[in-house]
Order: sequence, then C-alpha cells, then structure tokens
Amino acid sequence: MTLRLDPDQFFQAADILKRGGTVAFPTETVYGLGADATNASAIEAIFTAKGRPSDNPLIIHLQHPDQILDYCHNVPRIAYQLMEVFCPGPLTFVLPKKASIVDGATAGMNTVAIRFPSHPTAQKILEAAGLPIAAPSANRSGRPSATTWQAVVEDLDGRVDAIVCDLPTDIGLESTVLDLSSTTPMVLRCGAITLEQLQRVEPAIILRSDANLASVNSPGLRHRHYQPRAKVVLCDSPNQLSLNSTNSIAYIGLDPTDLQPPFSMSKQCQDIDEYARSLFDFFRQCDVANIETIGCQRVEEIGLGRAIMDRLRRAAESS
Ligand code: TXA
Ligand code: MG
Repeated sequence: MTLRLDPDQFFQAADILKRGGTVAFPTETVYGLGADATNASAIEAIFTAKGRPSDNPLIIHLQHPDQILDYCHNVPRIAYQLMEVFCPGPLTFVLPKKASIVDGATAGMNTVAIRFPSHPTAQKILEAAGLPIAAPSANRSGRPSATTWQAVVEDLDGRVDAIVCDLPTDIGLESTVLDLSSTTPMVLRCGAITLEQLQRVEPAIILRSDANLASVNSPGLRHRHYQPRAKVVLCDSPNQLSLNSTNSIAYIGLDPTDLQPPFSMSKQCQDIDEYARSLFDFFRQCDVANIETIGCQRVEEIGLGRAIMDRLRRAAESS
C-alpha cells in the first residue's frame, strides 16, 4: 500500500527513507522518487518501481553544497563557482564518485550526478533524513515526468511506500545536467538553468550535440523518454496540423488555435515558462482523453527554449 503524506509530514517521509523505503516528493523541477543512496536494496526498489533499465544512473539529492566532498572527489573550482550562483536550484553536477554512494545508484559508473533542490518540502525531507537521497523523476520509465502528485499516483500507486502530496511543480522540466568529470565541461541535458546562464560564469561550457553523443557517457540520453501514448508531432504553427488531423488531435504551443477543424484539446501558453510548466501534464491529460495525435509548436532554441525542444524531439521520436 502506498501512503499519502502531506508536505508537513516531512519527518514521516524522512523516517521511511531512513528505513530503506521509497518516497515520492516534489522538487522545483518535477516530482522525484527518493531512496537512500547508501542502501543498495533501497536503490534497487527505485529501479523496480519505475521499471527503469539498470544501466541508467540516478541523480543524488543533497541538502547543502558543503556535503559535496562526502560523495565526490576532484571537484573543480568551476563547480564551486557554479554552486555559489545556482544552488540550491535546478542544476545537476556530474563528478567523480566516492564509494559512499552505492554502485547501483550510479549504474556502476565512476561518476555521480548530484543536485541540491531548492523546493522547501524537498529540503525539509533531506534535512530530516540526513542522507544522500537518490531520486529519478517519479514516473514509470519512458513516460512523461510527473509534475503533479496525481501524476505520481497514476504511475506509481501501489509500487512505492509513500507519496508526498504537494502543489504542482514550478518549472515542469527536469534539471540541467552538467558534466564536470572530464576536461571539457558539457551540458548533457538542458533545463531551467540555461546554457547562456552557465556560460556567463564559465565560457568554456559546451552543449552536448548529437554529433558528440556517442562519446558521451550518459546512458539516460539514449533511452526512450517523455512519451505519452499519443503520437507527438512538431509544427511551426497550429495551421499545419489541421491538414492531416484526425478526430482527436490536440495542440500545445504559444500561438492561438482559432483554426479549423477544432482541436479536441488545446493549450495556449503565455510564454515559454508556462510552456515548460504545462507540457508533461498536458501530455498526460491527452492520454486520459484518448487523444491520438498531439501537435506541439516548436520554439526558438535559446534559453529555456532549448530544454523544451529537447523534450519535444524526444517525445516525438518513433511515437
Ligand atoms: O530535475 C531532475 O533532475 C529530477 C528531479 C527529481 O530531481 N530528476 C531526474 O532524474 O530527472 P532522472 O533519473 O529522470 O534523470 C537523470 C538523468 C538521466 O539522463 C541520467 O542518465 C543522467 O541524469 N545521469 C545520472 N547520473 C549520471 C552520470 N553519472 N553521468 C552522466 N549522466 C548521468
Ligand atoms: Mg526521468
């Protein structure tokens, strides 16, 4: 049975984690499914609950940047500079791993991904647990990440020990993942901390491109991701969709949709922040409504737009 907890029951959430259980909780990006990163069987329970391939490493959540040397070594100066500016917040650092994190959590890699969430509920749970907490996004593997506790229930009810039922998450897309474990600092996954913001602190940071993906050691990038059951198609304008529409086509984007034929469901976002915040929840609503095709408007690939386009492309892959 999966316990429902209120955000003010963070001590109870922490107790379950300390006893080796799994707890879904909110972060500023998406809901995470947490377990003690020093406990091999707790970590295994995450992979089982999500149906996650065991070669896909988890992100470890810590309460404070001061703790980083307990879990990583060879932390470069640039990591401290970036932590000073962006932490706590939606930025994940990939660094050489110490043995204190169990190998299952990092899928046997010699690096570990660490982040310091800014969400008050996540922070309270981390403080009360006093442990490094591994937490992938709280969805079944391959599905859109959960941005509401109801989405967590949809995917993981009966499969985890507890779900902390808090508000919908603020950002709606997962954290920026930055690899600082090799000579070239590289963004492996775009998120709310943008490439432009990072380059203002360290101009040498580059973006992973499809060309260098083969040489990048981040298994998660190669797995199926973010996919609703509906087919996802990308468009420059909602007009393009009406051409090949079925009876159940949905649309999400920045432009209005006063077009023929009417969409079964549509969401016009005021700006790219709202687009990011709404995207995964919209995918899930479309699945509930049995939508066959979801048309998603492309956005300019700068700032947060890069993260949106990355998720859109991967949702559209072979669906
Ligand atoms: O915002 C987020 O990051 C959310 C919340 C819950 O914190 N978590 C999240 O976790 O998105 P997950 O497991 O869904 O995505 C983790 C990503 C994957 O692409 C994984 O391959 C990559 O981080 N990753 C983890 N450890 C890594 C490592 N040692 N080296 C390279 N990539 C790594
Ligand atoms: Mg995920």
